[in-house]
Amino acid sequence: MSSDLSPIDKAKFVAAKRAAEFVEDGMRVGLGTGSTAAWLVRCLGEMVRDEGLKIRGVPTSTRTAQLAREVGIEVISLDEAKWLDLTIDGADEFDGELNLIKGGGGALLQEKIVATASDQMIVIADIGKEVEHLGTFPLPIEVIPFGWQTTQALVEETLISMDVLGRTSTLRMNGDHPFVTDEGNHILDLHLGRIGNPRQLALVINQMPGVVENGLFIDICDVVVIGHGDGKVTVRDINQGTTATERIDFVESDNLFSDLSD
Ligand code: 5RP
Repeated sequence: MSSDLSPIDKAKFVAAKRAAEFVEDGMRVGLGTGSTAAWLVRCLGEMVRDEGLKIRGVPTSTRTAQLAREVGIEVISLDEAKWLDLTIDGADEFDGELNLIKGGGGALLQEKIVATASDQMIVIADIGKEVEHLGTFPLPIEVIPFGWQTTQALVEETLISMDVLGRTSTLRMNGDHPFVTDEGNHILDLHLGRIGNPRQLALVINQMPGVVENGLFIDICDVVVIGHGDGKVTVRDINQGTTATERIDFVESDNLFSDLSD
């Protein structure tokens, strides 16, 4: 039940619950990936079931697609939707300009394609994700398996001329094997410490052959809904320049809290 949630799960839940209020009947909604986005999908599923909300969801991973179907959301592909009204997703870090690091869950490629094809992107995150400078969280980049070590060497060499503190990278693993994304690629996590110029870094990394996409989301996010462990949420809108904090009431719901796994 909700009262058993840890403060961090509470923060994720209230952020998701508040963000679900942005979703209106008839919308085509991009559904993010990760533990915070999973709360959002559950909240939307409850609205579909209990309030008759009619939406079509475009998931950003096979995991999210499975959960969305389980909770009763109609799932369509991005090409069926063509364009989305709104995408709601989590993030690993966000800064004051609402630039993001994403990809901790390995879904950055679909997440970026879906968010970019949306009128609006809302990020849902617990307060711990807010940073002054991006880069403490390792920056994920998706690389094709062919020659990945050569790509890694090229990336590390290029980082020498970039405004970053660290320059090492590691291949993301899944047990004894390299992690494989939904697109069949690998992920390199770049340990940068601090990214001085995220916009420049995003452009330079994507120039390299072998790199499919990077986890920097620049000028894509419009609104961040920040959850706090005490049940408060802060909604910050970068376009309107507004910030408002409110409290979200928990409504005990067996359906929503029965499965706490991602
Ligand atoms: C997945 C992502 C996630 O949104 C990000 O890792 C945050 O996840 P969580 O909500 O579990 O903290 O980018 O690729």
